[in-house]
Amino acid sequence: MEGVTNAAVREVLASYGPVGLVCTEFVRISGGRISHSYLKRQVEKLPGVALSVQVMGNDPELMGEAGAVVARAGADVVDLNLGCPTNAAVRKNVGAALLKDPVLLARLLGTMRRAVPGLLSAKLRAGFDTTDDALNNARLVEDSGIDYLAVHPRRRVDHYRGSADWGIVALIRRELSIPVVGNGDIWYAGSALRMFEQTNCDAVMLGRPALRNPWIFRQLSELLAGREPFRPSGVDLALHVRRLSRALSARADDGPSSALGPLKEQLGYLCRSVPDAASFQRRLQRLPTLALLLEASDEAFGALPVERLDLAALPSGPPQ
Ligand SMILES: Cc1cc2nc3c(=O)[nH]c(=O)nc-3n(C[C@H](O)[C@H](O)[C@H](O)COP(=O)(O)O)c2cc1C
Repeated sequence: MEGVTNAAVREVLASYGPVGLVCTEFVRISGGRISHSYLKRQVEKLPGVALSVQVMGNDPELMGEAGAVVARAGADVVDLNLGCPTNAAVRKNVGAALLKDPVLLARLLGTMRRAVPGLLSAKLRAGFDTTDDALNNARLVEDSGIDYLAVHPRRRVDHYRGSADWGIVALIRRELSIPVVGNGDIWYAGSALRMFEQTNCDAVMLGRPALRNPWIFRQLSELLAGREPFRPSGVDLALHVRRLSRALSARADDGPSSALGPLKEQLGYLCRSVPDAASFQRRLQRLPTLALLLEASDEAFGALPVERLDLAALPSGPPQ
């Protein structure tokens, strides 16, 4: 996820529980030439965890070349972005905009398939302004020889509003032969089980929910094993903030203080589990240094017992 799942964050999240695969933020492929050394630097692997490197662009030759470079540099999967909803992406006819251009999309997929030696996947939205072509687009991906498909069942025009329509994941799963990964609004470990049941998908992919509750993968594996799932406390959250801070600082190009902004981005997700999230977040967001932020985070999160946090494996209200 652009701006929020860099290598430092992936390392901390993967340390809490079994994840099968982690994905990079999109790597934008544009212009006349691509820097192979820049591409190779995106392949930052964690021991024992497969890495998918996502590329976003629409020039078939360049995208094929980029995919081949990252695959040869050790990426376990090369993923094509067919979901980015931003105005910048739409203006450049990349990301979700490609869903409106099946001719170019077929050429892009075909060229990438021929160029990429290993696993090649795509991640698509349900459509641009309608979901009518969701299945056609999914079939196009399958017919191009792509190894698996991840589906975020919202349209581009939805951005992140409304709820993800898992019925579209179910439809695509039913009609395709390649593995289908369900994504969107899996806010609790228990919701992942519901996604499997309702859609028959082969795997689940979590974005914002994993930033809100980094123990969600652990909880899911515990639920699947029939064990009592872990329930994090405020102290766990405060320790997590400190781990993120260390990992972000260690990789910060402009010195540890430049980790402050990225850490505040993470807090935007972490604060969603606490009571009165908006004012809790405002209190932390205005602190001007990493040291002050960490001190306040220890105090604020640390005071919250498990039952005041919305971090159980199952939602307390109606299923989500
Ligand atoms: C800040 C942000 C950045 C994102 N960046 C990417 C990206 O680079 N590539 C991608 O395929 N999806 C990206 N997404 C979409 C997510 O991967 C995911 O499909 C979407 O948030 C729905 O799933 P979730 O409910 O698990 O978050 C991004 C989402 C957000 C909120």
